[in-house]
Amino acid sequence: MTIRRVAVMTSGGDAPGMNAAIRGVVRAGLYNGWEMFGIREGFAGLMAGDYRPLGARDVGGIIQLGGTMLGSARAPEFKTPEGQAQAVARLSQAGIDAVAVIGGNGSQTGAHALSQHGIPVVGIASTIDNDLTGSDITIGVDTALNIALEAIDRLKTTASSHRRAFLVEVMGRDCGYLALMAGIAGGAEAICIPEFPVTNEEIAQVLQDAYKRGKTHGMVVVAEGATNDANELAQYLHQQSNNNGAGFEVRATTLGHVQRGGIPTAYDRLLGSRLAAHAMDCLAKGQYNVLAGQLGGKMAATPLAEVAGRTKPIPTELFELAEVLAR
Ligand code: F6P
Repeated sequence: MTIRRVAVMTSGGDAPGMNAAIRGVVRAGLYNGWEMFGIREGFAGLMAGDYRPLGARDVGGIIQLGGTMLGSARAPEFKTPEGQAQAVARLSQAGIDAVAVIGGNGSQTGAHALSQHGIPVVGIASTIDNDLTGSDITIGVDTALNIALEAIDRLKTTASSHRRAFLVEVMGRDCGYLALMAGIAGGAEAICIPEFPVTNEEIAQVLQDAYKRGKTHGMVVVAEGATNDANELAQYLHQQSNNNGAGFEVRATTLGHVQRGGIPTAYDRLLGSRLAAHAMDCLAKGQYNVLAGQLGGKMAATPLAEVAGRTKPIPTELFELAEVLAR
């Protein structure tokens, strides 16, 4: 089929670097001679027909901004046959031939559903969780990780002054990637992630041993989706430390959405730009219904059918490495 008009949207949780990807899609699409459109607020805007033309100047000055100039949303209505039929009708009314979906797991599952209606779709791998099949790394991960690390580094200095242990809860709904990497790079004593559950008793023991070895601070990174609740764990550790009469005082900090905001790193700007251009190349070559991702350092296109509804496991050896390094 001949492509003339392409629309781009961002969906699900925003990620630093999404704006770089929007800019990349629009400019690479214009380079290919297509008319480019932006869809407001993800699948909600797709169903509502909330589209506007985007020229090269409309995406100027955004590469350094976090968030997404198009807005983002989670739209459960798109999971229904009625929602999907409405989106297809709106696209046809607007004469849009193909859609680029910038987002993570839920968004790429939606992209796959849209492609099943005969619309050429290309996904662009973007989520701070880094749990998307088809890309070793996704847009936003590097920035989120660096923000978590800055917080950990800061907390360590105040922790050392008071001989305290800090629990830091980082994002990652069902995936421990961010917590694991932040734990390794931040020199944590213990890491709690959903993939490798540890008990509160085990964490208490690790901290007690670290205290006895003369460490001036303890750092425990807890993933949002871990079986341990960070505040409950903090209370438990506090009690344990009181019972033993020796041990770190404990404090808990939740980083939350701080990790999703702010200036994207150079890495995320480059990844967003490269994946966007690669996605437009795929469309130009007639390679539809794929996820533009990075595998083994190279641009890759994985069928959306293989991406939808799946999650990428985290490497076991990295969890083992974290344990070895926490001496
Ligand atoms: O998927 C990205 C993510 O930031 C998860 O890490 C987190 O669990 C979730 O989004 C939070 O979603 P919301 O922004 O809707 O609260």
